[in-house]
Amino acid sequence: MSIIERAADKLKINVDVEQKQAIKNIQRDIIHDSKRKIQKDTPDIERITEKFRNTITATPKIQPIEQQEVNNAIKINREYIDKPIYIPGRSAVGNKPNIDNHLSQPHINIDLDRLHRLGIVTPQHGKTQIAEQFRIIKRPLLTNAFSKNSGIKNGNLIMITSSLAGEGKSFCSTNLAMSIAMEMDNRVLLVDADVARPSIPKILDFNPDRKGLLDIILDQRLNVSDILTKTSVDKLTLISAGTRHPHATELLASQSMADILRELAQRYSDRIVIFDSPPLLLTSEARVLASQMGQIVLVVEAERTTQQTVKEALRQIESCDVINLIYNKARTSAASGYYGYYYSS
Ligand SMILES: Nc1ncnc2c1ncn2[C@@H]1O[C@H](COP(=O)(O)OP(=O)(O)O)[C@@H](O)[C@H]1O
Ligand SMILES: [Mg+2]
Repeated sequence: MSIIERAADKLKINVDVEQKQAIKNIQRDIIHDSKRKIQKDTPDIERITEKFRNTITATPKIQPIEQQEVNNAIKINREYIDKPIYIPGRSAVGNKPNIDNHLSQPHINIDLDRLHRLGIVTPQHGKTQIAEQFRIIKRPLLTNAFSKNSGIKNGNLIMITSSLAGEGKSFCSTNLAMSIAMEMDNRVLLVDADVARPSIPKILDFNPDRKGLLDIILDQRLNVSDILTKTSVDKLTLISAGTRHPHATELLASQSMADILRELAQRYSDRIVIFDSPPLLLTSEARVLASQMGQIVLVVEAERTTQQTVKEALRQIESCDVINLIYNKARTSAASGYYGYYYSS
């Protein structure tokens, strides 16, 4: 049984037991398992990702991470075992005005120095190592999105996902969005679609209490321009996760969400739409979302995600033709320790 199967299994058994104790036990098991598996499996990650060799980019580790991410992953899982709910589809796209001019959400001011300290690419801080990495990562994505000959349907819709929580989806989504927004010709829309655990407000430092994705899924009267938020970075617009909902992740698999995606692909075909998404192995809805995306970026955490886990995640997204891998938090080879470690000082 995989770590995830076991975690899910335990959760089902323990649903009625005191939640704190159950989570503690699972966390202990997972940490124990991953310690064992890391030693056994890590070198093999190279082999299984061979198919994607040309698309793999190693993203340097720039600051220490916290193990508590594993704990948070379990919470998403609890939500998943609740009963499904039915949300009706939205009406056809129609001729609603297409533009950000009359956006009702308050504007967000992004503190670029703070962002730089978190390891995110900014227009002000020049050619850092992380900026260089994301320059390489975005290039094929942009070509796929806008090249007439690419033959990729909805190539401007890009999902950033991973097998498990804490691998760096939000980190990579924000970096990619900033990197693209810094280009002369490209506009980018960053969507916080990890709706059960939204973290874009924490990274960009804004109040999460604003209308967003969950609101538009549930309320037929809203349209995309009601939830778009402009930022102080000229070419970067946001859609936040929206008002909390007990079935947040399930809503991503609704017909209403599919209609919104179609609308984004058509109406915003001139810009890249990046979805910071839930992890594939903890929610079945992430797979549904993946099946509607033009391109997928799978973030793989170096030295933690096992071969088996990556294989399983790749199986979930087989239906998408364009899959890129980011090997995240990779160490440098020699004594210099982690790549770009100076960022955290
Ligand atoms: N390349 C990296 N170097 C250093 N820290 C990273 C890197 N990628 C992610 N992190 C850190 O790891 C933690 C989890 O990343 P996050 O993007 O929130 O994961 P996810 O969205 O997949 O749950 C965060 O504290 C983040 O800052
Ligand atoms: Mg996240």
